[in-house]
Amino acid sequence: MSFRTIEWLDDTVVMIDQTRLPAEEVYNSYDDFQSVADAIRGMVIRGAPAIGVAAAMGVALGAHSIIADTHESFFRQLDNVCDVLGRTRPTAVNLFWGLTRMKGVAEGLRGESLDTIRAALKREAIRIEQEDQTICRNIGKWGATLIPEGATVLTHCNAGGLATAGYGTALGVIRAAHEAGKKIQVFADETRPWLQGARLTAWELMKAGIPTTLISDNMAGFFMSRGEITCCVVGADRIAANGDTANKIGTYSVAVLAKENNIPFYVAAPVSTLDLTLADGSQIPIEERPSHEVTHIKGIAIGPEGVRVRNPSFDVTSARYITAIITENGIVTGDYRSGLRKVAGG
Ligand code: MRU
Repeated sequence: MSFRTIEWLDDTVVMIDQTRLPAEEVYNSYDDFQSVADAIRGMVIRGAPAIGVAAAMGVALGAHSIIADTHESFFRQLDNVCDVLGRTRPTAVNLFWGLTRMKGVAEGLRGESLDTIRAALKREAIRIEQEDQTICRNIGKWGATLIPEGATVLTHCNAGGLATAGYGTALGVIRAAHEAGKKIQVFADETRPWLQGARLTAWELMKAGIPTTLISDNMAGFFMSRGEITCCVVGADRIAANGDTANKIGTYSVAVLAKENNIPFYVAAPVSTLDLTLADGSQIPIEERPSHEVTHIKGIAIGPEGVRVRNPSFDVTSARYITAIITENGIVTGDYRSGLRKVAGG
């Protein structure tokens, strides 16, 4: 990869600033958990798996700075660190998965010195980042088998190296097919309002030398109806036990269009994105973001001042529109309830 999404470097967390891409490739350095929380909320880092890594690294930074005479005081403050990080973005379950995993490590070492606990948390955060890269490669390997030679793949939002510790989930599938020598091309939805498709997906696919065409969101149906799209691959922020999938707003529309046009619609996600505690997608919390993301582009107003706005950041695609869910442990199709439990190891 020619960029690093997030990295632990000399006891700081370094992230590429995704609010400034593609115009500028700037790396920000963070040495306290509060500013990591602000970076997650402010979309400096975004994408479910990357948010999980950032949260874990935030906990490690927080643990480092806690001043405590007793274990009780340390654990109370650590809970607060996790609460602050947990209040940043509600939909991507990887955030909570990362926090739970970090808390579990600390709890398991309650009898040890605080320095031992701090060191273990740092090691765990780095491990989560490294594991994510391997997981994405495995998602890619499984998913590439579904992509035919000569395919035109439509994707929505950015589920790439920028949304993970590297390589990507949906874009991992595309990268793996490309690396296997298949002559494929990608149609990237621009993904209003935040333009992850235009600003991030097109940028990283071009860097990878994968032929890419940028379209505005309302063009997807046009190209599908003319037989120009072979399949769709998207990422996920949370997948319920029945396969219903929350992903970037607009994903649902793409899935319905795909079904109408008999085009396979694939979701690629790590097992850490599964939330098997939720029976179906109606229970997934949906983040609503500030109105200026809809009314303004780069500070320029595109709507009348004072207009009422809604800005849900995600939607839920019913499992019936999803042809298969690609995980690092295999491809699930058909009966999602039992298939997802199996890949989750439960
Ligand atoms: O609001 P974002 O940019 O964090 O939303 C990202 C998405 O919806 C991605 O498709 C999803 O997190 C999967 S990332 C591998």
